[in-house]
Amino acid sequence: MRSLTNLLGDINETFWFPPKASSFAEETDSFFMAIMWISVVFFVLIVAAMVYFVMKFRRRPGYRGDSSALHSNTLEITWTVIPTIIVIWIFARGVYGYMDMMTPPAGDTIDINVTAQKWDWQFQYPNGAISDELFIPNERNIRLRMRSIDVLHAFYVPSFRAKSDVVPGRVTTMWFRPIMEGDFDLFCAEYCGDKHSEMIKKQGVHVLDMESYETKLAELAKPPSHPVYHGYWLYKNRGCKACHSLDGKKIVGPSFQGSWGETVQLSTGESIAFDDQYVQESIYKPQAKFRSGYEKASQMPSFEGQLSLEEVMSLTAFMKEMKNEAFIKLVSDEDGLTPEEAKSYGISDEAVAAKDEGSESGGKGDPANEMPAEPNK
Ligand code: CUA
Repeated sequence: MRSLTNLLGDINETFWFPPKASSFAEETDSFFMAIMWISVVFFVLIVAAMVYFVMKFRRRPGYRGDSSALHSNTLEITWTVIPTIIVIWIFARGVYGYMDMMTPPAGDTIDINVTAQKWDWQFQYPNGAISDELFIPNERNIRLRMRSIDVLHAFYVPSFRAKSDVVPGRVTTMWFRPIMEGDFDLFCAEYCGDKHSEMIKKQGVHVLDMESYETKLAELAKPPSHPVYHGYWLYKNRGCKACHSLDGKKIVGPSFQGSWGETVQLSTGESIAFDDQYVQESIYKPQAKFRSGYEKASQMPSFEGQLSLEEVMSLTAFMKEMKNEAFIKLVSDEDGLTPEEAKSYGISDEAVAAKDEGSESGGKGDPANEMPAEPNK
């Protein structure tokens, strides 16, 4: 257990709590402990008094109790006034903390858009960059504007003591100020369907120093121009990976591995070629055709208006490549395809290079000039 081992070394993380990684943590934890100790003290007092009275006034031969309860004004006023003061104090401090969490500091925030969907998170930064994990700078106020494209989700980073529902049809705002660099866990804290647990991102929140943050953002803002790599990038960042695996496993929808060019069985019994037409239709109108065994695919939202034709072409190029053993091997491992691996595979076009050099164009180049060195061997 991480918390147990860290008891010895890292005093920031206690037996009860994850690291205090945001400015809310100190207040939240001390308030929690205060309420807990108040409860402990009253529990002990009340149970001790109860046990004592049970013993002292038990029924026994020759003992007769009073028929009516004794009355003491002093006692009654005391046990009314003291708890009342305590609960008012708890209420006041709770309101104070809540107001602080609900009110982002005016004019001094970095605003990041969050989109939740079944079953992944997407983050969009001020420079237009998108990612599936959250990157933020340390010691800055972060404001999240959160939207859900399907059902109720909840954004929760325990180390920040920050949590908020993400409600379809509404834009919810939350803020926090990270105070230590590191990688922290992100949870969806609202049961949102059978793959709810897929929305847990272990170490998926990265608090960086300002310089690394800016470098990371510049890198994320440049979609690769090579169609195959661009398709993979979209797959990773636009939520496809939540339901379509690359290793052949069935998650929610069919795996992308080896599907291209095959004849697939539809739930209607009809057979159809897995080709450009089918891919495009399935992205824009997921409800049009269900593959046999995937009738529940109706869960997929339409990407019409969200993915351009060019992006669909890139995704198609990527799916085509998912027939190629060498490529599958590269993308199927835990970390996915790194720019270095993309180069080693032959996607060593200016797209990948653009990420290193920070070239201004960053656009998608002419696919004709940028085929992989050894496509579909
Ligand atoms: Cu999203 Cu649970």
